[in-house]
Amino acid sequence: MSVTFTSVRSAEVNPSGGTKVVVVVVGTVVVVVVVVVVVDVVVEVVVDMLDVVVAATVVVETSITFSSDAHAVTTRINANKDRFTSLKLLPVASKSKYAVRSTKYPYPVAKKITAPEIKARKGGPKITMVTAYDYPGAVIADRAGVDIILVGDSVANVVHGMPTTLEIGIDEIVLHTRAVKRANPNALVVADMPWLSFHISAEDSVRNAGRLVREGGAEAVKLEGGRKRLPVLQAILDAEIPVMGHIGLTPQSVHAMGGFKVQGKAVDAATEMIEDARALSEAGCFSIVLEGVPDILGEIITKEVDVPTIGIGAGPSTDGQVLVFHDVLGLGSGSYPKFVRPYADLADQAVAALERFKADVESGNFPSDAESYHVPDEIAAELLKGIQDVSPHPLPAPGGNPP
Ligand code: KIV
Repeated sequence: MSVTFTSVRSAEVNPSGGTKVVVVVVGTVVVVVVVVVVVDVVVEVVVDMLDVVVAATVVVETSITFSSDAHAVTTRINANKDRFTSLKLLPVASKSKYAVRSTKYPYPVAKKITAPEIKARKGGPKITMVTAYDYPGAVIADRAGVDIILVGDSVANVVHGMPTTLEIGIDEIVLHTRAVKRANPNALVVADMPWLSFHISAEDSVRNAGRLVREGGAEAVKLEGGRKRLPVLQAILDAEIPVMGHIGLTPQSVHAMGGFKVQGKAVDAATEMIEDARALSEAGCFSIVLEGVPDILGEIITKEVDVPTIGIGAGPSTDGQVLVFHDVLGLGSGSYPKFVRPYADLADQAVAALERFKADVESGNFPSDAESYHVPDEIAAELLKGIQDVSPHPLPAPGGNPP
């Protein structure tokens, strides 16, 4: 009996924030219904007709789901149903769109996320952004279904061990962006414009942003600064490159700020920042990072601008959150800023794993026979026989493989 996904009969939000969708096949003319649930709200129902005769009940576990083409998604699911035991439906776009990705099926069917789709998420489902700087990092981030991968200039600190982001240049960001893009992520790939790559002239800034797109494969760029950067921002936008703004504690201004300090704590400074945010939004940024500002200011700016705000140390009210890859995974030194929540302790786990490897090497426990290559016994015997007369070294017993 063939099984197809047919009508979605019920959907409920599970406590961890995802959704559970129960799919039931009914009748001889099968109606395919895909229902998407986001925090208690059924966003959209798409109906299609299939002439498949089946009777089965299939339970599909999902997380929050959006995609671009429900019919294509459903067709794809049915075509690959044997390979899907668990479907992960990932947020990618506006409320009226869907995407589906399997945790088992190796080729995700989710649609590529674009800058306009991120912009359209203002006030909608929260946006998750994480940094990644290389191929495995991007694969991991994309498997987790994040919306945006930022090739941040924080690579200077967390990968290259530099004390500030001022030491990293455009060549390095291009290289890291290329590595990220080789993962072919569905997440939007945003490349950071490093210090001095957009401070000299509009022409130089467009050239550098263009390198991130043309050589690195970035789909948008991010640059730090408020109204001061508007001419450059406009020039990059005029070159058809989407721009993400970044205000608040902007690490490239570390010396001008007198250190890494929370910004906008006084009324004047907060008011200036609100004006910066408005200007960036009106100029055409598709989103704005708010870093290191009091939660109340994060909330005010989020209400004041028409594009999504993505916070890092900006409280819970922003339209999305971003963290540095190594911080989220506990791959750092172990001491993190207040706004970081490490969701794993991979550095400790890595040390423990390498300690076990070292101990096994030293004890001779690694590699095992199963981890070694062999030749047939006759060949091993012939090899040993051929050299036993000339070799000064003790050899394994003839007839057995070398250890
Ligand atoms: O470079 C970076 O990681 C960033 C984020 C902190 C937003 O700019």
